[in-house]
Amino acid sequence: MTPQRKKVRVQTLLEKKQAGEKIVAVTAYDYPTALLVDEAGVDMVLVGDSVGNVVLGYDSTLPVTMEEMRHHLRAVRRGIKTALLVADMPFLSYQSSVAQAIENAGLLIKDGAEAVKLEGGTAPIIQIVRTLVDVGIPVVGHIGFTPQWIHQFGGVRVRGRRSDEAKRLVDMALALQDSGCFAIVLELVPEDLAAIITEKLSIPTIGIGAGPHCDGQILVLHDLIGMLPGWSPRHAKRYAEVGELIRHAVETYAREVREGKFPTSEHTTKMPPEELERLKQLLQKP
Ligand code: KIV
Repeated sequence: MTPQRKKVRVQTLLEKKQAGEKIVAVTAYDYPTALLVDEAGVDMVLVGDSVGNVVLGYDSTLPVTMEEMRHHLRAVRRGIKTALLVADMPFLSYQSSVAQAIENAGLLIKDGAEAVKLEGGTAPIIQIVRTLVDVGIPVVGHIGFTPQWIHQFGGVRVRGRRSDEAKRLVDMALALQDSGCFAIVLELVPEDLAAIITEKLSIPTIGIGAGPHCDGQILVLHDLIGMLPGWSPRHAKRYAEVGELIRHAVETYAREVREGKFPTSEHTTKMPPEELERLKQLLQKP
């Protein structure tokens, strides 16, 4: 029997940083993958708004709605026993006002998230984070390349290569920590900057394309398992080729159906012979 793992909570991540233990996080968007990643023993599962890119086929995270996030979150919730479950707040679900942010973060918590993540570290975002934490909603910050800011940034690119921008990111990280975030995602920042931020913070940093010095790592599940053909961001490592496996399985199924090789007797049932005989007699009666 596999030993029972202890439920991961917000405090567990802080304890891991203090103990120098790496935090492992991954995204999930549905029930079966939630079951699998939880069983694999990750510490944190994020229902990311990357669902827009890797599941819903949008070309950015911007179109993702609260309804879509809630739908996927509820499915993931049903598959998670041990990992800490965090949900992304999608674009325009928190930026308009603090009241809007509380309302929408509250809905994600009611759906089973144990924390929410939102993007940015500018003054209005800091105020929103502080209020969410003050009303009892744990928050993960997210700085560096933040996909909801793609038009502001003018494309996907590493943030903080230059010292002035790097200094702004250090200040944002400290402000997010002060406002009550219990962890911060660092996306696409140089590894030396990530190391400096990680050193300065008492809360954990979770990196994606931010090098090995963060307190933890997160990857988009579909990048990690090689789900989408021909798409592999530089920061991700493909640990499997699941997309190829699926395509091959479906091609084999299609061929076997066309050749009459599937289904066989092991996949079907037969009527008891006497019942079949009776049916034939019944069908002969006028
Ligand atoms: O939406 C997402 O998957 C994320 C991760 C890349 C951190 O925000």
